[in-house]
Amino acid sequence: MFFIMEKPLIFCLFLFYWHFLYALFTVEAPQSLYTVEYGNNVTMECTFPVHGKLEFRDLSVIWEKKDKLKKQVYALLQGKEDFESQDSDFKGRTKLFKENLNLGQSLLQITDVKLRDAGLYHCLIGYGGADYKAINLKVKAPYRSITQGVVSTGDNEWKLTCQSEGYPQAEVLWQNREYEDLTHKANTSYETGRDQLYRVTSTLTIKSRTDEIFFCIFWNKELQENTSAILHITDSVDGVVRTESRRFIGAILIVTALLGSVLIFMLSISKATANKDNRTPVDSSSIAKLPNDKDTCDCRYASFEEEELKSMQVEKT
Ligand SMILES: *[C@@H]1O[C@H](CO)[C@@H](O)[C@H](O)[C@H]1NC(C)=O
Ligand SMILES: *[C@@H]1O[C@H](CO)[C@@H](O)[C@H](O)[C@H]1NC(C)=O
Ligand SMILES: *[C@@H]1O[C@H](CO)[C@@H](O)[C@H](O)[C@H]1NC(C)=O
Repeated sequence: MFFIMEKPLIFCLFLFYWHFLYALFTVEAPQSLYTVEYGNNVTMECTFPVHGKLEFRDLSVIWEKKDKLKKQVYALLQGKEDFESQDSDFKGRTKLFKENLNLGQSLLQITDVKLRDAGLYHCLIGYGGADYKAINLKVKAPYRSITQGVVSTGDNEWKLTCQSEGYPQAEVLWQNREYEDLTHKANTSYETGRDQLYRVTSTLTIKSRTDEIFFCIFWNKELQENTSAILHITDSVDGVVRTESRRFIGAILIVTALLGSVLIFMLSISKATANKDNRTPVDSSSIAKLPNDKDTCDCRYASFEEEELKSMQVEKT
């Protein structure tokens, strides 16, 4: 009986020591997949055990990218940063947060992420023992800003164009006001633009009366993401109208609203002073003192009563 009980105990002790000896130094990756938008920054993390104060001179941190050829992304060797062997892809775009090393965190920031940065990374740490973990980086580029064009080709026919850049390749769907599918009437072309992005241009030639709207939808199947633009066919449409115009109209609205509130403010002030003036008999003479050329300018801010007075004044002279 005694003999039988002892066996598992020894086994447990063995397991404990085995774990202690071989798993003492382990690197962990709290997050094994990062998805980042093209042009943004990403900070990838792996952790390692630090007991007590970190001995910087004993620490080596290497981040590699596992392409066909291994690429060095970042290296800190025995406490010293080494940019000599850094791959040109990453020149000037990496930063290791040194203060976090004390906490056993290897945080690598890659700025201005490119499409070619996507792939598998290894985070290697040497500190007494050595270990590594793999981390995946995905890069996406939504078709965010759509440039649109509406051109009349005469005879109630219109050429509608939508263009945008993104990744991966998107389909362009077309719909009218009733959400009928017009995609089969459109022509979509794909070019490789800057930094591996696709420049997608789609053209729909269609007969339509004015005051109609059409939609172009960029469908990024892989990202399950849709972005769309509304194209208006109006009488005044001539040449290219851009999506930026919406922002422009927004700005105009804001400016108009601001001017409007200033106007109302001025009106209320002038009304208040006019009311004050009304109680004194110098009312019309004070207005008459205004020089003629200034009249037109001041008119806009004067109350209606004042305007009437002024026109009467002009008629009299
Ligand atoms: C990326 O990081 C750099 C440097 O830390 C900073 O200047 C820049 O604004 C960041 N860009 C974005 C999109 O957050
Ligand atoms: C699309 O463009 C190609 C080349 O410009 C042209 O040959 C084709 O007829 C066009 N198709 C449609 C549906 O407009
Ligand atoms: C995107 O739009 C297409 C066509 O309207 C639709 O079939 C698809 O389900 C939409 N996808 C998402 C994610 O909204």
